[in-house]
Amino acid sequence: MAKDVIIACDFAGAEETIRFLDQFTDEKPFVKIGMELFYAEGPQIVRAIKARGHKIFLDLKLHDIPNQVKKAMAVLSSLDIDIVNVHAAGTKAMMRAALEGLTRPDGTRPLLIAVTQLTSTDQQALEEDLMIHAPIDEVVMHYAKNAKEAGLDGIVCSPLEAGKVHEICGKDFITVTPGVRFADAAKDDQKRVMTPEQAGKIGSDYIVVGRPITAAADPVSAYKRCLHDFLAENQGEV
Ligand code: C5P
Repeated sequence: MAKDVIIACDFAGAEETIRFLDQFTDEKPFVKIGMELFYAEGPQIVRAIKARGHKIFLDLKLHDIPNQVKKAMAVLSSLDIDIVNVHAAGTKAMMRAALEGLTRPDGTRPLLIAVTQLTSTDQQALEEDLMIHAPIDEVVMHYAKNAKEAGLDGIVCSPLEAGKVHEICGKDFITVTPGVRFADAAKDDQKRVMTPEQAGKIGSDYIVVGRPITAAADPVSAYKRCLHDFLAENQGEV
């Protein structure tokens, strides 16, 4: 399985994003495009970044009735993206519909992963707002199993959960993990963080890294350091 560092390009517009990517002359990092950039610039930003040779994780977290998600996924699949996601809360039927929509006439499709519970949702919100009366860790693992049963390729989770997800859903079930920080850096608003080497060691398949790279004085060096640390650990005893 491919292991890689995905840079979260959380920029407001195309100009800023392209200016950032222009700094990478020798390497073509995997990039994540989120809702802000996609809604501001539309599909054209995906085509532009793809044309520059980058792989793309389109982080739009779809959640609607199965038919709508299927049709929306067919549109996104035609953009030649590499990873896209849905909310597992949309049910297994919705996740299966997403897979159907994503599958191109030639049988290929981007990887499809699920968001289990957002890390902004805590136990109290789970119970009071969502009326889900189970420990949040159990809910995350249950949603991960649902995603696996629906045929998805993996989930987005905290690096702290990656090992358990692999135990339950198998080592080939992809874990994409944000919340990564260098040991000597600020945590920003991330609460539970791991270093790239720790994330690699625990079994994350892809780490999503934003500000430690985008806000670094030298983003290219920060990216290379991240990639080196993450992949070095993956070649270790894991
Ligand atoms: O700048 P930073 O490294 O914190 O960015 C992490 C990226 O991962 C952001 O794009 C953020 O939206 C995303 N993310 C996250 N936590 C989640 C899911 C996604 O930080 N649970």
